[in-house]
Amino acid sequence: MPLNVRAAVVHAPNEPFVIETLQLEGPGKGEVLIHVKTTGLCHSDLHVYEGKAPWQFPVLLGHEAAGVVVECGPDVTRFKPGDHVIPFLIPHCGKCQYCARPEKTNLCVEAFNRLRPRESHFSMNGKPVSQLWGLGTFADYTVLPEDTIAKVRDDAPFDPICYIGCGATTGIGAAMFSARIEPGSSVIVFGLGGIGLNVVQGARLAGAKIIIGVDMNPAKEAVARQFGVTEFVNPKEIEKLTSHLMKLTGGGADYTFECIGIPQVMRQAFECTNPAWGKAYVIGVAPHGSEVSAIPTQLMMGRQWTGCYMGGARLDRLPEIVDWYVDGKINLDALVTHRLPLERIGEGFRMMQSGESIRTIVVL
Ligand code: APR
Ligand code: ZN
Repeated sequence: MPLNVRAAVVHAPNEPFVIETLQLEGPGKGEVLIHVKTTGLCHSDLHVYEGKAPWQFPVLLGHEAAGVVVECGPDVTRFKPGDHVIPFLIPHCGKCQYCARPEKTNLCVEAFNRLRPRESHFSMNGKPVSQLWGLGTFADYTVLPEDTIAKVRDDAPFDPICYIGCGATTGIGAAMFSARIEPGSSVIVFGLGGIGLNVVQGARLAGAKIIIGVDMNPAKEAVARQFGVTEFVNPKEIEKLTSHLMKLTGGGADYTFECIGIPQVMRQAFECTNPAWGKAYVIGVAPHGSEVSAIPTQLMMGRQWTGCYMGGARLDRLPEIVDWYVDGKINLDALVTHRLPLERIGEGFRMMQSGESIRTIVVL
Protein backbone atom coordinates (compact mmCIF):
# COMPACT_ATOMS: atom_id res chain seq x y z
CA MET A 1 0.00 0.00 0.00
CA PRO A 2 1.52 3.35 -0.97
CA LEU A 3 1.81 5.99 1.71
CA ASN A 4 0.03 9.31 1.21
CA VAL A 5 2.53 12.12 1.82
CA ARG A 6 2.42 15.90 1.82
CA ALA A 7 4.87 17.37 -0.68
CA ALA A 8 5.75 20.68 -2.35
CA VAL A 9 5.58 19.92 -6.07
CA VAL A 10 6.63 22.02 -9.07
CA HIS A 11 4.54 21.17 -12.14
CA ALA A 12 6.52 23.19 -14.72
CA PRO A 13 9.59 25.49 -14.62
CA ASN A 14 9.02 28.74 -12.71
CA GLU A 15 5.46 27.81 -11.70
CA PRO A 16 4.55 28.22 -8.03
CA PHE A 17 5.09 25.33 -5.62
CA VAL A 18 1.85 23.43 -4.97
CA ILE A 19 1.32 21.45 -1.77
CA GLU A 20 0.01 18.09 -3.01
CA THR A 21 -0.75 14.69 -1.56
CA LEU A 22 1.50 12.21 -3.36
CA GLN A 23 1.54 8.44 -3.25
CA LEU A 24 4.89 7.08 -2.10
CA GLU A 25 5.90 3.48 -2.94
CA GLY A 26 8.52 1.47 -1.14
CA PRO A 27 10.92 0.93 0.43
CA GLY A 28 12.04 -1.78 -1.97
CA LYS A 29 15.21 -3.89 -1.86
CA GLY A 30 18.11 -1.90 -0.41
CA GLU A 31 15.91 1.15 0.20
CA VAL A 32 14.89 3.10 3.26
CA LEU A 33 11.75 5.11 4.10
CA ILE A 34 12.76 8.38 5.76
CA HIS A 35 10.68 10.87 7.75
CA VAL A 36 12.16 14.19 6.60
CA LYS A 37 12.55 16.65 9.51
CA THR A 38 14.38 19.56 7.89
CA THR A 39 15.40 20.41 4.35
CA GLY A 40 17.58 23.26 3.07
CA LEU A 41 16.99 25.34 -0.05
CA CYS A 42 20.01 25.21 -2.33
CA HIS A 43 20.87 27.06 -5.54
CA SER A 44 21.04 23.73 -7.36
CA ASP A 45 17.31 23.27 -6.65
CA LEU A 46 16.79 26.81 -7.94
CA HIS A 47 18.64 26.06 -11.21
CA VAL A 48 16.25 23.16 -11.86
CA TYR A 49 13.22 25.18 -10.73
CA GLU A 50 14.09 27.91 -13.22
CA GLY A 51 14.56 25.37 -16.02
CA LYS A 52 18.30 26.19 -16.28
CA ALA A 53 19.30 22.60 -15.63
CA PRO A 54 17.37 20.03 -17.64
CA TRP A 55 15.02 17.82 -15.61
CA GLN A 56 11.62 16.09 -15.73
CA PHE A 57 8.51 17.88 -14.46
CA PRO A 58 6.43 17.56 -12.36
CA VAL A 59 9.27 17.29 -9.88
CA LEU A 60 9.84 16.89 -6.18
CA LEU A 61 12.92 19.07 -5.59
CA GLY A 62 15.15 19.06 -2.51
CA HIS A 63 18.39 17.21 -1.81
CA GLU A 64 19.71 18.82 1.39
CA ALA A 65 17.92 17.19 4.32
CA ALA A 66 17.99 15.46 7.69
CA GLY A 67 15.50 12.94 9.00
CA VAL A 68 14.74 9.65 10.72
CA VAL A 69 14.57 6.14 9.27
CA VAL A 70 11.02 4.79 9.57
CA GLU A 71 11.23 1.51 7.69
CA CYS A 72 13.90 -0.53 5.92
CA GLY A 73 13.28 -2.58 2.77
CA PRO A 74 14.69 -6.09 2.21
CA ASP A 75 18.48 -6.48 2.32
CA VAL A 76 19.11 -3.15 4.05
CA THR A 77 22.11 -3.80 6.28
CA ARG A 78 23.34 -0.45 7.58
CA PHE A 79 20.19 1.16 8.98
CA LYS A 80 17.36 0.47 11.39
CA PRO A 81 14.19 2.38 12.25
CA GLY A 82 14.96 5.37 14.46
CA ASP A 83 18.39 6.10 12.96
CA HIS A 84 19.06 9.77 12.24
CA VAL A 85 20.29 10.23 8.68
CA ILE A 86 21.45 12.78 6.11
CA PRO A 87 21.14 12.05 2.35
CA PHE A 88 24.06 12.92 0.07
CA LEU A 89 24.22 13.48 -3.69
CA ILE A 90 27.17 11.11 -4.05
CA PRO A 91 26.29 7.52 -3.22
CA HIS A 92 28.89 4.96 -2.25
CA CYS A 93 28.39 1.68 -4.12
CA GLY A 94 31.73 0.40 -2.82
CA LYS A 95 32.31 -1.63 -6.00
CA CYS A 96 33.14 0.76 -8.88
CA GLN A 97 36.49 2.05 -10.16
CA TYR A 98 35.83 5.37 -8.35
CA CYS A 99 34.96 3.87 -4.98
CA ALA A 100 38.15 1.78 -5.34
CA ARG A 101 40.31 4.96 -5.47
CA PRO A 102 39.32 7.02 -2.42
CA GLU A 103 42.76 8.67 -2.44
CA LYS A 104 41.97 10.08 -5.90
CA THR A 105 38.27 10.94 -5.78
CA ASN A 106 35.15 11.22 -3.65
CA LEU A 107 32.98 10.19 -6.60
CA CYS A 108 31.19 6.93 -7.30
CA VAL A 109 30.11 5.83 -10.79
CA GLU A 110 26.55 5.68 -9.46
CA ALA A 111 26.69 9.46 -8.83
CA PHE A 112 26.59 10.05 -12.59
CA ASN A 113 23.61 7.71 -13.01
CA ARG A 114 21.65 9.48 -10.31
CA LEU A 115 22.10 12.87 -11.93
CA ARG A 116 19.89 11.49 -14.72
CA PRO A 117 16.16 10.88 -14.33
CA ARG A 118 15.27 7.39 -13.10
CA GLU A 119 12.14 5.66 -11.86
CA SER A 120 10.46 7.62 -9.07
CA HIS A 121 8.83 6.35 -5.89
CA PHE A 122 6.36 9.25 -6.00
CA SER A 123 3.21 9.59 -8.07
CA MET A 124 0.10 11.71 -8.18
CA ASN A 125 -3.15 10.12 -9.38
CA GLY A 126 -1.12 7.39 -11.09
CA LYS A 127 1.26 9.80 -12.89
CA PRO A 128 4.93 9.87 -11.81
CA VAL A 129 6.43 12.86 -9.99
CA SER A 130 10.22 12.75 -10.44
CA GLN A 131 12.67 12.79 -7.52
CA LEU A 132 15.43 15.32 -8.18
CA TRP A 133 18.71 13.39 -8.66
CA GLY A 134 17.10 10.35 -7.11
CA LEU A 135 16.48 12.20 -3.81
CA GLY A 136 13.51 14.59 -3.46
CA THR A 137 13.17 15.92 0.07
CA PHE A 138 10.53 18.68 -0.06
CA ALA A 139 8.06 16.19 1.45
CA ASP A 140 7.24 14.72 4.85
CA TYR A 141 8.58 11.32 3.73
CA THR A 142 10.87 10.05 1.00
CA VAL A 143 12.35 6.71 -0.08
CA LEU A 144 16.09 6.54 -0.84
CA PRO A 145 18.66 3.83 -1.54
CA GLU A 146 20.71 3.02 1.57
CA ASP A 147 23.98 3.68 -0.32
CA THR A 148 23.19 7.42 -0.49
CA ILE A 149 22.48 8.21 3.17
CA ALA A 150 24.78 8.67 6.15
CA LYS A 151 23.88 7.77 9.71
CA VAL A 152 24.63 10.60 12.12
CA ARG A 153 24.54 11.02 15.91
CA ASP A 154 21.01 11.43 17.23
CA ASP A 155 21.77 14.30 19.63
CA ALA A 156 22.52 16.70 16.76
CA PRO A 157 19.63 19.06 15.90
CA PHE A 158 17.97 18.45 12.50
CA ASP A 159 18.00 22.23 12.11
CA PRO A 160 20.71 23.08 10.99
CA ILE A 161 22.55 19.79 10.27
CA CYS A 162 20.59 19.26 7.03
CA TYR A 163 22.92 21.97 5.64
CA ILE A 164 25.79 19.45 5.97
CA GLY A 165 24.07 17.34 3.29
CA CYS A 166 25.14 19.83 0.60
CA GLY A 167 26.06 23.51 1.04
CA ALA A 168 28.16 23.41 4.20
CA THR A 169 30.12 20.34 3.12
CA THR A 170 30.61 21.72 -0.41
CA GLY A 171 32.34 24.80 1.02
CA ILE A 172 34.17 23.44 4.06
CA GLY A 173 35.24 20.32 2.16
CA ALA A 174 36.60 22.29 -0.81
CA ALA A 175 39.05 24.00 1.54
CA MET A 176 39.86 21.04 3.78
CA PHE A 177 39.46 17.85 1.72
CA SER A 178 40.04 18.96 -1.87
CA ALA A 179 42.53 21.83 -1.67
CA ARG A 180 43.94 20.62 1.67
CA ILE A 181 45.00 24.17 2.42
CA GLU A 182 48.21 24.24 4.47
CA PRO A 183 48.69 26.48 7.54
CA GLY A 184 50.03 29.89 6.53
CA SER A 185 48.46 29.81 3.04
CA SER A 186 46.86 32.69 1.17
CA VAL A 187 43.32 32.11 -0.04
CA ILE A 188 40.86 34.14 -2.11
CA VAL A 189 37.15 33.30 -2.09
CA PHE A 190 34.98 34.82 -4.83
CA GLY A 191 31.34 35.04 -3.77
CA LEU A 192 30.44 35.09 -0.09
CA GLY A 193 27.10 33.28 -0.12
CA GLY A 194 26.05 30.03 1.50
CA ILE A 195 28.91 28.21 -0.25
CA GLY A 196 31.69 30.82 -0.17
CA LEU A 197 31.33 31.55 3.55
CA ASN A 198 31.78 27.85 4.22
CA VAL A 199 34.96 27.85 2.14
CA VAL A 200 36.07 30.77 4.33
CA GLN A 201 35.47 28.84 7.55
CA GLY A 202 37.20 25.77 6.08
CA ALA A 203 40.22 27.92 5.15
CA ARG A 204 40.29 29.39 8.67
CA LEU A 205 40.16 25.90 10.23
CA ALA A 206 43.00 24.80 7.93
CA GLY A 207 45.11 27.67 9.29
CA ALA A 208 45.21 29.98 6.25
CA LYS A 209 46.98 33.25 7.07
CA ILE A 210 45.43 35.49 4.43
CA ILE A 211 41.77 34.96 3.53
CA ILE A 212 40.47 37.52 1.05
CA GLY A 213 36.75 37.61 0.39
CA VAL A 214 35.56 39.12 -2.91
CA ASP A 215 31.92 40.08 -3.23
CA MET A 216 30.11 42.91 -4.98
CA ASN A 217 27.58 43.13 -2.16
CA PRO A 218 29.14 45.34 0.57
CA ALA A 219 26.67 43.94 3.11
CA LYS A 220 28.64 40.67 3.04
CA GLU A 221 31.73 42.19 4.65
CA ALA A 222 30.56 41.90 8.27
CA VAL A 223 29.51 38.25 8.13
CA ALA A 224 32.59 37.39 6.06
CA ARG A 225 34.88 38.85 8.74
CA GLN A 226 32.97 36.91 11.40
CA PHE A 227 33.75 33.71 9.46
CA GLY A 228 37.47 34.44 9.02
CA VAL A 229 37.98 36.81 6.10
CA THR A 230 41.03 38.99 6.80
CA GLU A 231 40.42 41.37 3.89
CA PHE A 232 37.20 42.23 2.03
CA VAL A 233 37.37 43.37 -1.60
CA ASN A 234 34.44 44.81 -3.52
CA PRO A 235 35.23 44.30 -7.23
CA LYS A 236 33.07 47.30 -8.13
CA GLU A 237 35.52 49.56 -6.29
CA ILE A 238 38.71 48.18 -7.85
CA GLU A 239 39.74 48.99 -11.38
CA LYS A 240 42.28 46.21 -11.94
CA LEU A 241 40.98 43.42 -9.74
CA THR A 242 43.45 40.64 -10.56
CA SER A 243 46.58 42.78 -10.15
CA HIS A 244 45.13 44.19 -6.91
CA LEU A 245 44.62 40.65 -5.59
CA MET A 246 48.09 39.58 -6.77
CA LYS A 247 49.51 42.46 -4.75
CA LEU A 248 47.47 41.67 -1.64
CA THR A 249 48.75 38.07 -1.69
CA GLY A 250 52.38 39.00 -2.38
CA GLY A 251 52.50 37.58 -5.90
CA GLY A 252 49.38 35.45 -6.24
CA ALA A 253 47.22 33.32 -3.97
CA ASP A 254 48.05 29.76 -3.04
CA TYR A 255 44.39 28.84 -3.47
CA THR A 256 41.33 30.53 -4.96
CA PHE A 257 37.71 29.40 -5.04
CA GLU A 258 34.99 30.62 -7.39
CA CYS A 259 31.69 30.25 -5.53
CA ILE A 260 29.35 32.18 -7.82
CA GLY A 261 29.07 30.41 -11.18
CA ILE A 262 30.23 33.15 -13.58
CA PRO A 263 32.81 32.13 -16.23
CA GLN A 264 34.50 35.59 -16.24
CA VAL A 265 34.91 35.40 -12.45
CA MET A 266 36.30 31.86 -12.79
CA ARG A 267 38.95 33.32 -15.08
CA GLN A 268 39.75 36.12 -12.61
CA ALA A 269 40.06 33.51 -9.85
CA PHE A 270 42.47 31.54 -12.03
CA GLU A 271 44.56 34.56 -12.99
CA CYS A 272 45.17 35.81 -9.45
CA THR A 273 46.79 32.58 -8.25
CA ASN A 274 50.50 32.21 -7.78
CA PRO A 275 51.95 31.51 -11.27
CA ALA A 276 54.06 28.57 -10.11
CA TRP A 277 51.91 26.66 -7.63
CA GLY A 278 48.57 28.43 -7.36
CA LYS A 279 45.45 26.32 -7.57
CA ALA A 280 42.09 27.71 -8.67
CA TYR A 281 38.97 25.75 -7.73
CA VAL A 282 35.69 26.06 -9.61
CA ILE A 283 32.75 25.42 -7.26
CA GLY A 284 29.99 27.68 -8.60
CA VAL A 285 27.74 26.14 -11.23
CA ALA A 286 28.01 28.12 -14.49
CA PRO A 287 25.05 28.42 -16.86
CA HIS A 288 24.40 25.40 -19.07
CA GLY A 289 26.46 25.68 -22.27
CA SER A 290 28.86 28.38 -21.03
CA GLU A 291 32.63 28.13 -21.50
CA VAL A 292 35.78 29.34 -19.76
CA SER A 293 38.98 30.46 -21.43
CA ALA A 294 42.50 31.43 -20.40
CA ILE A 295 45.85 32.38 -21.88
CA PRO A 296 47.68 29.03 -22.24
CA THR A 297 51.04 30.40 -21.07
CA GLN A 298 49.42 31.20 -17.72
CA LEU A 299 49.35 27.45 -17.13
CA MET A 300 52.91 26.78 -18.17
CA MET A 301 54.65 27.68 -14.93
CA GLY A 302 52.53 25.24 -12.99
CA ARG A 303 49.28 27.00 -12.12
CA GLN A 304 46.41 24.55 -11.84
CA TRP A 305 42.76 25.07 -12.69
CA THR A 306 40.47 22.47 -11.20
CA GLY A 307 37.22 21.95 -9.34
CA CYS A 308 35.51 19.72 -6.86
CA TYR A 309 32.07 18.25 -6.33
CA MET A 310 30.49 18.18 -2.87
CA GLY A 311 33.70 19.54 -1.38
CA GLY A 312 35.59 16.37 -2.21
CA ALA A 313 33.70 14.69 0.64
CA ARG A 314 32.56 11.10 0.63
CA LEU A 315 29.43 9.91 2.38
CA ASP A 316 31.42 8.61 5.35
CA ARG A 317 32.68 12.14 6.10
CA LEU A 318 29.24 13.47 7.03
CA PRO A 319 29.10 12.10 10.62
CA GLU A 320 32.45 13.77 11.31
CA ILE A 321 31.24 17.14 10.02
CA VAL A 322 28.15 16.79 12.21
CA ASP A 323 30.53 16.26 15.16
CA TRP A 324 32.36 19.47 14.20
CA TYR A 325 29.06 21.34 14.39
CA VAL A 326 28.06 19.81 17.74
CA ASP A 327 31.55 20.54 19.14
CA GLY A 328 31.36 24.17 18.00
CA LYS A 329 34.24 23.83 15.55
CA ILE A 330 32.10 25.06 12.64
CA ASN A 331 29.36 27.67 12.65
CA LEU A 332 26.19 26.92 10.72
CA ASP A 333 23.73 28.90 12.84
CA ALA A 334 24.85 32.31 11.58
CA LEU A 335 24.33 31.14 7.99
CA VAL A 336 20.74 29.98 8.46
CA THR A 337 19.02 33.31 7.93
CA HIS A 338 15.47 32.06 7.41
CA ARG A 339 13.20 29.20 8.51
CA LEU A 340 9.88 28.41 6.85
CA PRO A 341 7.10 25.81 6.97
CA LEU A 342 6.65 23.72 3.80
CA GLU A 343 3.61 25.78 2.73
CA ARG A 344 5.84 28.87 2.39
CA ILE A 345 8.69 27.25 0.46
CA GLY A 346 8.05 29.56 -2.53
CA GLU A 347 9.09 32.55 -0.39
CA GLY A 348 12.39 30.80 0.29
CA PHE A 349 13.00 30.39 -3.45
CA ARG A 350 12.22 34.08 -4.03
CA MET A 351 14.79 35.00 -1.36
CA MET A 352 17.41 32.85 -3.11
CA GLN A 353 16.62 34.69 -6.36
CA SER A 354 16.88 38.12 -4.74
CA GLY A 355 19.98 37.18 -2.74
CA GLU A 356 18.53 38.30 0.60
CA SER A 357 18.97 34.90 2.28
CA ILE A 358 22.13 32.94 2.97
CA ARG A 359 20.42 29.64 3.82
CA THR A 360 16.72 28.95 4.30
CA ILE A 361 15.68 25.78 6.10
CA VAL A 362 12.20 24.32 5.71
CA VAL A 363 11.12 22.75 8.98
CA LEU A 364 8.62 19.95 8.34
N1 APR B 1 31.57 39.39 -8.32
C1 APR B 1 31.63 39.20 -6.99
N2 APR B 1 30.63 38.69 -6.26
C2 APR B 1 29.50 38.36 -6.88
C3 APR B 1 29.34 38.53 -8.28
C4 APR B 1 30.45 39.10 -9.01
N3 APR B 1 30.40 39.28 -10.32
N4 APR B 1 28.11 38.09 -8.62
C5 APR B 1 27.52 37.65 -7.49
N5 APR B 1 28.36 37.81 -6.43
C6 APR B 1 28.13 37.43 -5.04
C7 APR B 1 26.76 37.74 -4.50
O1 APR B 1 26.69 39.05 -3.98
C8 APR B 1 26.58 36.67 -3.40
O2 APR B 1 27.04 37.14 -2.14
O3 APR B 1 28.23 36.01 -4.96
C9 APR B 1 27.49 35.54 -3.85
C10 APR B 1 26.73 34.28 -4.28
O4 APR B 1 26.10 33.74 -3.17
P1 APR B 1 24.69 32.99 -3.20
O5 APR B 1 23.83 33.64 -4.21
O6 APR B 1 24.24 32.87 -1.78
O7 APR B 1 25.05 31.52 -3.79
P2 APR B 1 25.55 30.20 -3.05
O8 APR B 1 24.43 29.49 -2.42
O9 APR B 1 26.73 30.51 -2.19
O10 APR B 1 26.00 29.35 -4.32
C11 APR B 1 27.01 29.83 -5.18
O11 APR B 1 27.61 27.65 -5.94
O12 APR B 1 26.62 25.60 -5.65
C12 APR B 1 26.76 26.67 -6.47
O13 APR B 1 24.71 26.67 -7.67
C13 APR B 1 25.46 27.36 -6.73
O14 APR B 1 26.36 28.51 -8.55
C14 APR B 1 25.95 28.66 -7.21
C15 APR B 1 27.19 28.91 -6.35
ZN1 ZN C 1 22.82 21.53 -3.04
